[in-house]
Amino acid sequence: MFRLSKKLQSLPPYLFVEIDRAKRKARAQGEDIIDLGIGDPDQPTPAHIVEALYKAAQDPACHRYALDQGMLSLREAISKWYKVRFGVDLNPETEILPLIGSKEGIAHFPLAFLDCGDYSLVPDPCYPPYKGGSILAGGKPYLMPLLQANAFLPDLKKIPPGIRRKAKLMYINYPNNPTGATAEKDFYKETLDFAVKNKIIVISDLAYSEMSYDGYRPCSFMEIPGAKESAVEFHSLSKTYNMTGWRIGWACGSSDLIDALGRVKSNIDSGIFCALQLAGISALETPQEQVRNMCQLYQERRDALITGLTSLGWQVKPPKATFYVWIKIPAKSNSIEFSKLLLEKTNIVVTPGLGFGKYGEGYIRMALTVPTQRIREAVQRLRQKI
Ligand SMILES: Cc1ncc(COP(=O)(O)O)c(C=O)c1O
Repeated sequence: MFRLSKKLQSLPPYLFVEIDRAKRKARAQGEDIIDLGIGDPDQPTPAHIVEALYKAAQDPACHRYALDQGMLSLREAISKWYKVRFGVDLNPETEILPLIGSKEGIAHFPLAFLDCGDYSLVPDPCYPPYKGGSILAGGKPYLMPLLQANAFLPDLKKIPPGIRRKAKLMYINYPNNPTGATAEKDFYKETLDFAVKNKIIVISDLAYSEMSYDGYRPCSFMEIPGAKESAVEFHSLSKTYNMTGWRIGWACGSSDLIDALGRVKSNIDSGIFCALQLAGISALETPQEQVRNMCQLYQERRDALITGLTSLGWQVKPPKATFYVWIKIPAKSNSIEFSKLLLEKTNIVVTPGLGFGKYGEGYIRMALTVPTQRIREAVQRLRQKI
């Protein structure tokens, strides 16, 4: 009866419907599901952050509308954190914008810069809002394949001149969801040169900067001289502090880009609950030991999964960062069929690669969000049933 907008109609299909349905059915039947599908930490938010929210929520000053651009004290805490972590200076007044989770900003950003028919350069496979946000803003995603042969980095030389001319935005995301790939400064330098030459804004998604292993420390796009003038970087408290449900993150970078995103947002939301912003400050001031412990936990799980899958003859590389393991399907099957087979035969939930884009076909993603013991059990089930 209602005619959907062309934009909504052209969003990529949600490919997890059947798997979601099968998962719910199996759960309802009392099956023992091992869910490696969702990128949502299983550990609780550290107690002192919960305590900070509890305390702040009792202050009536927190009950009113927040400022659109976030509390200055939060922006100062972000600026300090950034300086310590990456050695980058950010002006808390003009170069930082708190968000209701980084997804919100990532998806709204194209509204500030895309006109009908403009392109945004989007990696494929990717976190889905890069495509969705671009399409909802009237733009067209141009897919940059992330191929194993190129270490899951986009090959910028392959982007045709006609597309370069019409592209306004370019998304990059390292450490990467879903492939677990990482990028180094030489790739960032090449990307910045490309972006400046073609007048394209770089959107760096750094949601997984703190989740890394074996002593590896991801860098920020903002560390590249000149990046701050032509790029914006998105961060999240979700994964670093087990706060996915809280909804808090930020954008930082060029003051013009931050200002434009702020103008879009001021027409859409009215800021983040102040008590939550105060809890966010407490998170950023968390002794980083807690973050290191989190990494150690995921590293133990990663090692158990990689050792187990390798012993089954599966092709897997241990990721240096993120809590995702990107796995080539060890059978003549496609990713949806293989994920369904795993659920039916072993009660293990994984995410089919195709859900992240067409270049994700041939892979599945497993998230390290269950205890090591359950990972070992999952490997055991695979050994017996697949
Ligand atoms: C690459 C990437 N960016 C951003 C996000 C969104 O995080 P937030 O909870 O801050 O919206 C996610 C969440 O899974 C993600 O995987």
